[in-house]
Amino acid sequence: MRALVTVVSLFFLGAQAQHEWTYSGGLEEEQWPLEYPSCGGQKQSPIDLQRRKVQFNPYLKPLNLTGYGEEDMEFPMINNGHTVQITLPPTMSMTDSDGTRYIALQMHYHWGGGSSEVSGSEHTIDGIRRVIEIHFVHYNAKYANYDEAKDKSDGLAVLAAFIQDYAENTYYSSFISELANIQYPGQTTTLNGIDIQDMLPGDLYHYYTYSGSLTTPPCTENVKWFVLEDSIKLSRTQVLKIENSVKNHNNETLHNGYRKTQPLHQRVVEANFLYFPNKRQPGPHSFERYLLKKKKKKKKKKKVGARG
Ligand SMILES: *[C@@H]1O[C@H](CO)[C@@H](O)[C@H](O)[C@H]1NC(C)=O
Ligand SMILES: *[C@@H]1O[C@H](CO)[C@@H](O)[C@H](O)[C@H]1NC(C)=O
Repeated sequence: MRALVTVVSLFFLGAQAQHEWTYSGGLEEEQWPLEYPSCGGQKQSPIDLQRRKVQFNPYLKPLNLTGYGEEDMEFPMINNGHTVQITLPPTMSMTDSDGTRYIALQMHYHWGGGSSEVSGSEHTIDGIRRVIEIHFVHYNAKYANYDEAKDKSDGLAVLAAFIQDYAENTYYSSFISELANIQYPGQTTTLNGIDIQDMLPGDLYHYYTYSGSLTTPPCTENVKWFVLEDSIKLSRTQVLKIENSVKNHNNETLHNGYRKTQPLHQRVVEANFLYFPNKRQPGPHSFERYLLKKKKKKKKKKKVGARG
């Protein structure tokens, strides 16, 4: 009898796995449009952010992130078979430049790790894939909840941030150690004593923005994207732990959970900072930061002068 039950449940697991979308094997991303027509649309995400083509919009105000810095909260965290997802409380919200308020729902990660050199961000910058990408999924506050918002044309907004490897980041210690408790799909744990704002980049002011979609089925084209220019710094060891701690529905280590970049078509990407392609320093530098640096240098000089 027990054997029969096992066979039956294996059969159902198998049947379920066949309909489950994947990044490779089964319903792969090239086949998503067959079951989820929106995935073949003209406003898909992610995209390659080509900095020379991004339009500087000086009227774009910084995002107003509310409740992100709250302490002493508990966050449920799950391995859903595709990624690690953290449930966010509705006290967290984001107001964009035009005054639309979006309520936070969840955050999740996209990483690579298929081999030691494989990065896994979804958006790329000038063709370069970053190490990891975090998505904070929000829904428009004018709707009662996510379910009501998820099919509306102005329903969703995602705040995205990149992780680069650089040095150990202790704000990520408890998140990373909790991964051991959700090794298998469906397992849940609770994240305590963290502050979400600490897990974001230092500069929350400068971003790219464009209209796109969810990057996983059903790929609904109703997402206002905000991709932060600054990135989060973690050590190589921390990155390797994120890449190698959790398994998918086939009991394989979850690797390369990112979608390929999609054509831009008629869309325009905007940013609230300037890009200086001829500057010597790597990466974009905002005009404000450039001025700030200048000011600091002057101050230092003055101090030195006073002492001398
Ligand atoms: C940010 O949004 C919150 C919540 O909507 C609001 O109370 C606050 O005044 C806003 N802050 C700024 C600087 O606009
Ligand atoms: C996954 O692997 C673990 C450890 O080897 C095993 O206990 C578990 O039964 C496996 N699960 C599935 C669904 O194959």
